[in-house]
Amino acid sequence: MLNGKAIVLIISGGIAAYKSLDLIRRLKERGARVIPVMTDGAREFVTPLAVGALSAENVFTDLFDREAEHDVGHIRLARDHDLILIAPATANLLAKMVHGIADDLATAVLLATNKPVLAAPAMNPKMWQNPATLRNVAKLEERGIRFVGPASGEMAEKGEAGIGRMSEPLEIVAATEALFRDQAMRHAGLPLAGKHVLITSGPTHEPIDPVRYIANRSSGKQGHALARAAFDAGARVTLVSGPVELPDPANVETVHVETAAEMLKAVEANLPADIAIMAAAVADWRVAAEGSQKIKKDGSGQPPALALVENPDILATIGHHESLRPRLLIGFAAETQNLIDNARAKLDRKNADWIIANDVSPETGIMGGDANTIRLVSKSGVEDWPEMNKSDVARRIIERAAQEMSDDAAS
Ligand code: CTP
Repeated sequence: MLNGKAIVLIISGGIAAYKSLDLIRRLKERGARVIPVMTDGAREFVTPLAVGALSAENVFTDLFDREAEHDVGHIRLARDHDLILIAPATANLLAKMVHGIADDLATAVLLATNKPVLAAPAMNPKMWQNPATLRNVAKLEERGIRFVGPASGEMAEKGEAGIGRMSEPLEIVAATEALFRDQAMRHAGLPLAGKHVLITSGPTHEPIDPVRYIANRSSGKQGHALARAAFDAGARVTLVSGPVELPDPANVETVHVETAAEMLKAVEANLPADIAIMAAAVADWRVAAEGSQKIKKDGSGQPPALALVENPDILATIGHHESLRPRLLIGFAAETQNLIDNARAKLDRKNADWIIANDVSPETGIMGGDANTIRLVSKSGVEDWPEMNKSDVARRIIERAAQEMSDDAAS
């Protein structure tokens, strides 16, 4: 798997940098070329001489090294190799990556690269568990950066233990191999190549007057993760998104809408699709007569009456479409009680093939959170899936959908 691969190894400043020497050896044993980049911090822990001797390559350290820039340059370092591996990755380096700071060679390479990035964090357990770091890691994962570790155990500092140790070199090697294996599988024949997948995501906003609206707590994380997973599986993806605070997924055509009515229109305009996944939390009602001016208090102490009317059901509309119903139509059911019965009822009423049911009672933390525990309800039964993060749920739904499409084609 690693034979002939060129890996840029970024070593940042932490005591775990001494393990990077062994890591270089292990990667080279497997036939990889290892091109080291060291931060100033890293050079406090290991010397460029040792790193250079083990890698048998030039060691890059300075962004403004005229020789190195002339010869290779940070853009070529970032682009001409197969993988950027960061070991150890300090909390500081991860934070800089989140914000796109490029104040040394390592961070400039990371900002300029279009290659896969694998990070092996190493830091004190308190630093790892700091919400700032956890949030940074989640953001980087959302951008497709992969992580190995950290592991738990004794720290170099006396009396400190917990999660924060850099993974052992052989574990990092295994994670590197897994990354290349996934990449090879993707290139080998993507399961949804040639298919169009249409996905709705996020909440809808239903205006009350020019400044107020009705909304819900949907973050769009699950729908956006599905769009990314469908693209990774080779599909052409259209994402119809309500207002969310997420970036548009790369390589996905994203249509931005506000209301349920606009969402339905955008969905219909983007049919036909082979697979449609309605992950949006569409508002069930809208205000019957949207005020053209801001509603003012009238001094009576009585709140205004808001008459609501039901919104169109997008999933049901598509499910009953005569000619344009997608071959595989997937809905979600967010419930706080009678999960399975309600999901089954939705499956029938909306003429969907699958309902991905989840319990969104506030104590589950699913709404707006990163994890999801779901049940897949179809005509043939109910499958229980373990708790997974929303990206893994997305990948598994897309895998199952691809399998269903190929079973369909075969029968
Ligand atoms: N849905 C939709 N259009 C609507 C309401 C829901 O397309 N106006 C879709 C959602 O995207 C989801 C599924 O229908 O895939 C179920 O959504 P949910 O809110 O759980 O169900 P509702 O039909 O709104 O039923 P209720 O709120 O009464 O549980």
